[in-house]
Amino acid sequence: MKYLVVMLVLICVCVMKATAQEKQTFSIGNGSFLVNNEPVVIKAAEIHYPRIPEPYWEHRIQMCKALGMNTICIYIFWNLHEQRLDQFDFSGNKDIVKFCRLAQKHGMYVIVRPGPYVCAEWEMGGLPWWLLKKKDVKVRTMDPYFIERVGKFMNAVGKQLAGLQINRGGNVIMVQVENEYGAYATDKTYVSTIRDMVRNAGFTDVPLFQCDWNSTFKKNGLDDLLWTLNFGTGANIDNQFKELKKERPDSPLMCSEFWSGWFDHWGRKHETRAAKTMVQGIKDMLDRDISFSLYMAHGGTTFGHWGGANNPAYSAMCSSYDYDAPISEAGWVTDKFHQLRTLLSNYLKPGESLPAIPESYPVIEVPEIHFTQAAPLFTNLPKSRQSADIQPMEQFDQGWGSILYRTTLPASIKGGVIKITEVHDWALVFADGKLLARLDRRHREFTTKLPPLKEGTRLDILVEAMGRVNFGWSIHDRKGITEKVEIIENGIPTALSNWEVYSFPVDYSFVCSMKYRKSEVQTMPAYYKATFNLDKVGDTFFDMSTWGKGMVWVNGHAIGRFWEIGPQQTLYMPGCWLRKGKNEIIVLDLKGPREASVRGLEKPILDMLRKNTPETHRKEGQNLNLTGEKVVMHGRFTQGNGWQEIKFPFPVEGRYFCLEGLSSFDEKTVAAIAELDVLGADGLPVSRDAWSVVYADSEETDKGNFTADKVFDLQESTFWRTVEKPDFPHQIIIDLGEKQTVTGFKCLPRAERGVPGQIKEYRVYVKIDNFKF
Ligand code: GLA
Ligand code: CA
Repeated sequence: MKYLVVMLVLICVCVMKATAQEKQTFSIGNGSFLVNNEPVVIKAAEIHYPRIPEPYWEHRIQMCKALGMNTICIYIFWNLHEQRLDQFDFSGNKDIVKFCRLAQKHGMYVIVRPGPYVCAEWEMGGLPWWLLKKKDVKVRTMDPYFIERVGKFMNAVGKQLAGLQINRGGNVIMVQVENEYGAYATDKTYVSTIRDMVRNAGFTDVPLFQCDWNSTFKKNGLDDLLWTLNFGTGANIDNQFKELKKERPDSPLMCSEFWSGWFDHWGRKHETRAAKTMVQGIKDMLDRDISFSLYMAHGGTTFGHWGGANNPAYSAMCSSYDYDAPISEAGWVTDKFHQLRTLLSNYLKPGESLPAIPESYPVIEVPEIHFTQAAPLFTNLPKSRQSADIQPMEQFDQGWGSILYRTTLPASIKGGVIKITEVHDWALVFADGKLLARLDRRHREFTTKLPPLKEGTRLDILVEAMGRVNFGWSIHDRKGITEKVEIIENGIPTALSNWEVYSFPVDYSFVCSMKYRKSEVQTMPAYYKATFNLDKVGDTFFDMSTWGKGMVWVNGHAIGRFWEIGPQQTLYMPGCWLRKGKNEIIVLDLKGPREASVRGLEKPILDMLRKNTPETHRKEGQNLNLTGEKVVMHGRFTQGNGWQEIKFPFPVEGRYFCLEGLSSFDEKTVAAIAELDVLGADGLPVSRDAWSVVYADSEETDKGNFTADKVFDLQESTFWRTVEKPDFPHQIIIDLGEKQTVTGFKCLPRAERGVPGQIKEYRVYVKIDNFKF
């Protein structure tokens, strides 16, 4: 009897607990978020499940908790889950339910951002490549095909996660609709359609929200969604929320992405953001009860081929997504971590404390591994397909990897030029097996000279696809050769046809099926294979600095891309994917290594840029001569953050646009501009896709990545900044790519408090021909 009573009491307690749990609610109150009707400040840590090996998920979640966060914020990456049409996969490293449950196990809420577009420096911003098989597809619009596919994806996500909404016993407190749509287009119909799809997928019980920049949030703001803002370290917090507060005085405020650092591109300086400035930003928010999500709390690694790219100018992402975040790529604490943890520990409720910091995983060195087996691509050709005309890779049902286009010259030539429209993204051009050129889309290298060639010469163009663009309209980024190949002789173009096409996908099953033979370093593109033994496993960093350009697979896991130009020279190798005993490593090198060997280091090398051309745009000894040039406009900006639009008194025809800053508001020597737009005949910004920097009198590249191209990289948080000396005037000249009718321009100064380097007085010049130097 006694026993029965105890049992009954126990059952009651359990039921009560369960109902108490079920009763959890999350809602939007007057000026604050509410959990069970109690105000909370969301302190979210953004981490990405595919950027962390699944066995390490729990560790990283615990690290976020120890950092002082109460929420985990995740994107859902559509193209990871639906790699082939209608084949959804939520298993293993893609098991989002498991991921969210792990967060719940450690008392963390989850914010879900299912896109469908996510940006995130991820291949095509998370959209599946196969959408591009439809030639006229317009992604992120009401395009019926796109909308139909989004519906299927969203439902699949709903099936996984809708049951984890907080009031149903899970930990999901909010779901995001689209992502920074204002930076892409103005289309409320589209955004409402996505909102409805998110609801229809089952996310009916928690608040839905939109995130945007303070310059764009009104463009698509829906009445029934919460609005949040994204901005980075250094931003002026009060200024960021000024407009939003006016529009929605009662809304709780949240910075849905506070950028802790920044991402790295191949061939560009490694990015960092000062810990002190970042921590100050968080403090400013906490002091105002503003919720935030730290993007990234831990960036991790963009394994395999999953990195995206920015455009213009086309610029692919490195494999490391360390992001200079508080938790390093390998899950280690950093100085930023300690500083932030100290700050956050000051904002705990009475009785709360931060858990101990979990140990990081052991690290090992791996002695030199020599590669003695190779499989050259040209002697391992897979089955080919014929195509009369050039088609991009998607038309051959290939998503990623390299593609070889082969044809023979129909008639002999005495020399000329080969023009490839366009190379996406890096090509090797061969005539009868002899390398003629390497072409790099980052520099818009689409042509090369041809020597005299005989009729019947075999022409090979091997094109490596880097990441698909993940931001802006150029996310419609088809790979391989997008349009055509022409031979231009004596100014007359002839299109080449009758192609044999060979696909080299990135799948491990393909890569390991190559015929590897004993061989030394190859001068032609090749796969290399080696095995190595380990007596203990641990995390390590594979040093790729003797290799050219390509990709690495270890024990079947695609580890990432490498490129000699850096700044990343090592690849993070998680110990959980290594084995005691025998391991296998395969390297694809399209350029060819200096030495075919790899060592595992105990520390990463992420900031070793090796380029033979400088990043700055002013040539040595070059001096701009503006004497005699006609001033189109002489004016003064208004002091303060935010975009400013200047209309010319009359339109001017021209291709070269020069903005000259004569003085600054802070009366210092440095000029800075975050974004610049040139207004065309219709008064709207002209496309910046073909823009290039002709000249900038000075560019800071020692203290950070502040080159002049930052004024048209579409990112409001990146900027051109001159060095301390010389003083004003400062000039930037942009080649607009073609002649335009210019009616004015728009300019965005830096987002920081005090608007450092904001130009006061300026002059503008517009010319048909280039300026004189
Ligand atoms: C934006 C996007 C994110 C990411 C960051 C930059 O805010 O929403 O996905 O791309 O920029 O890291
Ligand atoms: Ca910028």
